[in-house]
Amino acid sequence: MSAVLETSPFFLRPMLKNDMDEIMAIELKSYVFPWTRQIFIDCLRAGYYCQVCEMHGYIVAYGIMSTGAAEAHVLNLCVSSERQGKGLGRQLLSHMLGVAEQKKIDTVFLEVRPSNSIALCLYDAMGFNQIGERKDYYPTKKGREDALILAKSLAKNIAKSFPA
Ligand SMILES: CC(C)(COP(=O)(O)OP(=O)(O)OC[C@H]1O[C@@H](n2cnc3c(N)ncnc32)[C@H](O)[C@@H]1OP(=O)(O)O)[C@@H](O)C(=O)NCCC(=O)NCCS
Repeated sequence: MSAVLETSPFFLRPMLKNDMDEIMAIELKSYVFPWTRQIFIDCLRAGYYCQVCEMHGYIVAYGIMSTGAAEAHVLNLCVSSERQGKGLGRQLLSHMLGVAEQKKIDTVFLEVRPSNSIALCLYDAMGFNQIGERKDYYPTKKGREDALILAKSLAKNIAKSFPA
């Protein structure tokens, strides 16, 4: 896909508890099985890296990443439906990978539904590789769906990618 890049000015800032109404409006429109407000609040309380992308005073995207000693996990990455396909997801993920690199993280992990082809394209383009799967991990309208486990190595002195 060759996107028409977003040219409006936007900036990233830490997510706040006060952002929950706006975030939940995007979350509910973006996922068939959305996170609850409480999950976002728990992520804030846990001290995870929670960022929002703001444009013209409104939140248009957000990302949440937990970081430990050597690993990080991208737990949520979401762009509002009106702003999708304009490069925001890529820029937000790239920012989060940069933060992980600054924190000397070796490997960034995430889980994704195999049916989420857009997200898979993005993760592939950003250098993530599939390293495993979790059987019947996600609910679907008809039953369950596996989760693909993807990883990206940030370590400079070891192989940049994992075998497929
Ligand atoms: C997945 C998501 C974060 C991608 O963000 P985005 O801003 O729409 O994506 P971008 O415009 O940055 O595009 C990045 C890449 O994604 C892929 N992509 C984006 N839109 C696409 C589309 N409509 N069709 C196919 N691939 C697409 C392309 O590989 C694209 O790179 P390219 O433009 O160089 O070809 C966004 O679509 C989203 O929030 N979806 C709903 C929530 C979700 O599924 N989150 C991921 C959970 S794991």
